[in-house]
Amino acid sequence: MQLKNTEILKGPLRYPGSKAAFAPIFFEVVRQLGLDFETIVEPYCGSGAVSLYALQNDICSNAVLVERDPLIYAFWYSVFNHAEELLDKIASADIDLSTWHNLQSLRELDVPGAAPIVDLGFAGLFFNRVNYSGILSAKPIGGLSQSSDYKIDCRFNKPDLCKRIKSIARLSGRVKVVFGDALDVIRAPGAYGAGSIYYIDPPYFDQGKRLYRHHYNTSDHYELYESLAALNQPWFLSYDKHHVIELLYKHFNLVTFGFRYSSRMPKLVDELFITNHNNPDGRRIGLADDWKIQSVERSEKLAEASRFVDIANGFAPAR
Ligand SMILES: C[S@@+](CC[C@H](N)C(=O)[O-])C[C@H]1O[C@@H](n2cnc3c(N)ncnc32)[C@H](O)[C@@H]1O
Repeated sequence: MQLKNTEILKGPLRYPGSKAAFAPIFFEVVRQLGLDFETIVEPYCGSGAVSLYALQNDICSNAVLVERDPLIYAFWYSVFNHAEELLDKIASADIDLSTWHNLQSLRELDVPGAAPIVDLGFAGLFFNRVNYSGILSAKPIGGLSQSSDYKIDCRFNKPDLCKRIKSIARLSGRVKVVFGDALDVIRAPGAYGAGSIYYIDPPYFDQGKRLYRHHYNTSDHYELYESLAALNQPWFLSYDKHHVIELLYKHFNLVTFGFRYSSRMPKLVDELFITNHNNPDGRRIGLADDWKIQSVERSEKLAEASRFVDIANGFAPAR
């Protein structure tokens, strides 16, 4: 598996919690684990950064992107099924406050289907690019009065966005976009074949409510844990570091690492990376004692994983 340049990572969404910077690290760890796979399933798609990185670098053949937010789902569905129509909409749209108000009715829909899919998809891109921090439920950059130096259109560079969309739309034959609940997909493991791995990036335990229109309460996080505990295909889970999550997954391989979401972020945040896959032969670690025996190997992997994070963050030179 040869990783190409990371420039192509730039997706069209400015997504809160995007794992674009994590994708190269993730696939280096997967490579070290000796995992070959045909399909990557990403049940909490968001910007789909990890799956799209895998396809752009030919790490695997196919991706399944699942998203519960109808605007984000519709955006990806439009990119991979109606790219020309979406690009036309972008070209002809006014990126201003009146469009922001006109699209409010689409922001209120809870499921796709009540509006043309490309209209919804455009609304997803629009709110993501013009709202504060890419948060779909937020106010526009510059506020409703547009009195600040930064205006609503300051992050909506049409030519650049269209270029990114065109480049990603070339992957269309390899991507299936699904609207719905991640847990339904995780509980139907046979659906995407034996050669699938799952990259799971659920709404954060702490900040999920602030960042996403669909988020989890504690019992939802527990249900996810139960569903993953029953899933035998290799899965990799990322989370914000929280003691409840550490406790839930204590029998799985779990590492903590410092991560910087983007180069503009001043400090590293602690993230958890958890997997049911430990050994090249695919043996699961089920019991606490067994887990302790494995922990030497585990700490070696931790050291490696941390090194990749350091390299990615520019802290340590590549060997
Ligand atoms: C942490 S973000 C994923 C970020 C993604 N890994 C990326 O790189 O952009 C979590 C995503 O899960 C979505 N989501 C929330 N609840 C969901 C559910 N029940 N099923 C599927 N997706 C859900 C949110 O809308 C959000 O896009």
